[in-house]
This record gives sequence, structure tokens and C-alpha cells, in this order.
Amino acid sequence: MAGQNVLKLEKLPGHVAIIMDGNGRWAKKRGMPRTFGHKAGVEALREIIKMSDEVGIRALTVYAFSTENWKRSTEEVGALMGLLLEYFRRELEELNRKNVCIHILGDIDGMPKGTERQQEALHRAIDKTKNNTGLILNIALNYGGQQEIVRAARNLAEKAVRGEIRPEEITRELMQAEMYTAGEPEVDLIIRTSGELRISNFLLWQCAYAEFYITDTLWPDFDREQYRMALEAYAGRNRRFGGV
Ligand code: IPE
Ligand code: IPE
Ligand code: MG
Repeated sequence: MAGQNVLKLEKLPGHVAIIMDGNGRWAKKRGMPRTFGHKAGVEALREIIKMSDEVGIRALTVYAFSTENWKRSTEEVGALMGLLLEYFRRELEELNRKNVCIHILGDIDGMPKGTERQQEALHRAIDKTKNNTGLILNIALNYGGQQEIVRAARNLAEKAVRGEIRPEEITRELMQAEMYTAGEPEVDLIIRTSGELRISNFLLWQCAYAEFYITDTLWPDFDREQYRMALEAYAGRNRRFGGV
């Protein structure tokens, strides 16, 4: 694999997270409906998952749908939900064969009415791959970083009310353990495509010391070479974590 030879493995991020942005603009540039861009985005995602697995990334988180994306037109939301079902129908067997363990970051059961089939497909994917020991694939769906932190606070408050912990015992580690990413390697690298310089409610807790890599490339055009460039950029970073 070309990518494998050029990457310095010792400097490979353990956990990569991607804001897959720019599908709509990609389609618009081609005079096509936004949905066309989302379809192309799924193809891009397939290759990036494959490459993550090949180079030995431990965990890959992809932002598929935010808690704010429900604001979009019924038509677009419907198309995205359709693609989600199609994705698992097409890919689940192969992901499972590749030993990929699927996690969903976000509130599956809080998805709106009419998405019951999607919710069921998500639970099925988690269940089918739960004992797999390969790449951890986190799909952030109906996900908001603020909502994740609120959920963690609420879980700890409930434990305190039940008398299982005292408020002064609440630490960073206890909060960490309530995040969707509990038990996974820290997020090392956050990639955002389409050039937007914002976090858009993604991994607010986990991004504390993550390295950022932003490219103008629109998500459907983000290919193996683009990914290799992001990983190379990461390998060249000097991470200090507040030290010198
Ligand atoms: C990212 O692409 C995919 C989702 C948010 C689901 P967009 O749909 O946000 O595309 P742009 O940013 O409008 O080009
Ligand atoms: C972030 O992109 C969400 C996903 C990629 C799923 P958005 O397109 O929703 O973010 P904004 O609106 O540009 O901040
Ligand atoms: Mg966008």
C-alpha cells in the first residue's frame, strides 16, 4: 500500500476525527442537488475507513449528522436518513469481516419519529460488531458536543443523588468516563474539510489537545492522498500539552 510506506508509524495518530463537510457545495459546483453530494460523500468515507484500517489507526470518528442538522429541509434530511440505511445494508457485512467495531456517538433513541428503521439499523450494527477488536469506527449521529457534556453531567448528578459519589469526587476522569468515547484513545487529530474554521459542536470535550487540520478540499474529493497529507502534517506537529 503506497500510503503505508510513506507514513511514519510511530507518529501516527491513535484517534482521528473528521468533520466531513462540503457535500452540498461539491454538488452545487456540478449543478446537481445537494443529495448528489451526500452520495459522493459516502464513497469518500468508504475509502477513508479502509485506509484508516490499513495504516493502523486505532479509532476513527466521523461526523455524519449533528443535532443541528435536523434544521435542514425535509427532503435533505430524508435523503440523508435514506443513505444511512443504505450504508449499513451495503457495508455492515464487510466492516464486520474486517473486525471493525462500530460505535454511535449521539442520541440514537432521541432521533425523531419516522426514523425507527434507522434507529434499529444502528442498534443492529453496534450489536453485531461489539466484540470486534479491530478499528473502532465512531459514527457521530444526532450528535452535539454540548449535549454530550450535559448528558455526562446529568449521569454524574444522578449518581450523586443515589449516593454513589460525592460532588467533590467528580474529576476530569469521571467526566471522561461518561463521554461517548469512554475507554478509547484520546482524539489526536481533527480534520475538517471545506475550509470552515469552526468546530460546529463536534467533540467539545475531546478536542482539548487535539491537533487541527483544515483543508479547503470538499469532503467528496477527500481521497487517500488527501488523507495521507493530513497524517503527514500531524506527524510533523510538535505537541506540547501545556509543557515546553
Ligand atoms: C456535510 O456536508 C454533510 C452533512 C452535514 C450531513 P454539507 O451538507 O454540510 O455541505 P455544505 O457544507 O453545505 O457544502
Ligand atoms: C458539521 O457540518 C456537521 C457535519 C459534518 C455532519 P455543518 O455543515 O452542519 O456545520 P456548519 O453549519 O457549517 O457549522
Ligand atoms: Mg456544511
